[in-house]
Amino acid sequence: MSKNTLTITDNRTDKTYELPITNDTINAMELRQIKVNPEDFGMLSYDPAFKNTASTKSTITYIDGGKGILRYRGYPIEQLAEKGNFLEVAYLLIFGELPNEQQYAEWKHEITHHTFVHENIKNLMEAFRYDSHPMGMFIATVAAMSTFYPEARDIFDEEARLKQIHRLIAKVPTIAAFSYRHTRGLPYVYPDNDLSYTGNFLSMLDRMTQLKYEPNPVLERALDVLFILHADHEQNCGTSAMRVIGSSHTDPYTAMAGAAAALYGPLHGGANEAVLRMLLEIGDLKNVPAFVKGVKNRERLLMGFGHRVYKNYDPRATLVKNIADQVFEVTGKNPLLDIALELERIAREDEFFVERNLYPNVDFYSGIIYQAMRFPVSMFPVLFAIPRTVGWLAQWIEMLEDKEQKIARPRQVYLGSDSRDFVAMNDRK
Ligand code: CMC
Repeated sequence: MSKNTLTITDNRTDKTYELPITNDTINAMELRQIKVNPEDFGMLSYDPAFKNTASTKSTITYIDGGKGILRYRGYPIEQLAEKGNFLEVAYLLIFGELPNEQQYAEWKHEITHHTFVHENIKNLMEAFRYDSHPMGMFIATVAAMSTFYPEARDIFDEEARLKQIHRLIAKVPTIAAFSYRHTRGLPYVYPDNDLSYTGNFLSMLDRMTQLKYEPNPVLERALDVLFILHADHEQNCGTSAMRVIGSSHTDPYTAMAGAAAALYGPLHGGANEAVLRMLLEIGDLKNVPAFVKGVKNRERLLMGFGHRVYKNYDPRATLVKNIADQVFEVTGKNPLLDIALELERIAREDEFFVERNLYPNVDFYSGIIYQAMRFPVSMFPVLFAIPRTVGWLAQWIEMLEDKEQKIARPRQVYLGSDSRDFVAMNDRK
């Protein structure tokens, strides 16, 4: 009969160890019993960038990267994008179940009635330089929010915690919109609580002298679906940052500023911005082959391609491509789309990309849509951070409630100098 264990023989000592297998994993702490002598610290596993290390159990998001499957709390992303709305999905991610009518009404009410920010937050944002990157403003302002809500440090008080969740989900579009208006030198627009989550966001971005702003329903819905697609993606770089910072029991604003900082980089949430800059640089269909050649010569990365987890088409990329058609009917086609399609066509046929399972990821087409909606490229990572706030918070709560979690503290393999004596300045080479 097969046993659910792993047998390891240490050839240094000829000793054999039998380790239990649970959920197809071994507990890395079990390795510590593998020692050459009693003084030995014990075996560690070495895993730079956590490529093969599960740092948590989770019930939030499921990804099968080989098959291109993404589910939130068991629901396929395709169904959520087609039938759900962002606030419903946010509720699902935070609480684990889709809301019934009453739960949804209460949730929507709470989010809608926390959209305003303290006037001093507005004043604080006004102090940024006129050309500040909106993501820099976003990160700094989210961090600053912790100083406005000191009760947020009470992270094990469920009521206080829920209040911060309402505040964060409600206020991130306001902060994002203020950061955009700031870079444009335009007055900040206060939230309009009669509008939907994305309708209000569009109003805060666009509204000028209208007494009542009416969002375009196609763009409002497109943004809502894009927010659903970006709401969570299990243990990625930003989410891991949220969990690691949160594991020291800091407040959610401070932890989330760190998660957003991780998202900012071009290999993560900054990729949609990098894709757009790449497409603008290519500029014309005739330049695509030379660009691809440069990628294959390892001079460049093809931004928006490849993923640590998906080794197949990113299911979000398929959905984003569908949204593009609807948006372009309103905005007119983005000329960069042809360059993107040609890049994808060549890459999907070329051995270099096929061999490495490099497919378009969610960011390859989202930037083209955002640009058609007239967002400046510097706003792209901010547009990612708004919906990801929900995922960060859901993962943060799960971490806090998980009895197996402790302050995150990885080990290292020290390869530096052995002990040596201090050398006086005059005696140094
Ligand atoms: N262009 C060219 N070659 C690539 C690319 C790319 N975009 N991505 C991976 N490769 C190559 C890489 O050079 C390596 O080749 P080899 O085995 O010959 O050395 C092979 O493919 C495997 O890549 P890797 O670097 O081991 O893969 P990773 O899992 O460490 O990196 C990634 C994943 C997303 C950081 C990477 O694919 C990348 O830099 N992509 C471009 C940036 C991007 O689009 N990021 C957005 C990710 S989706 C949004 C999100 O969830 O954050």
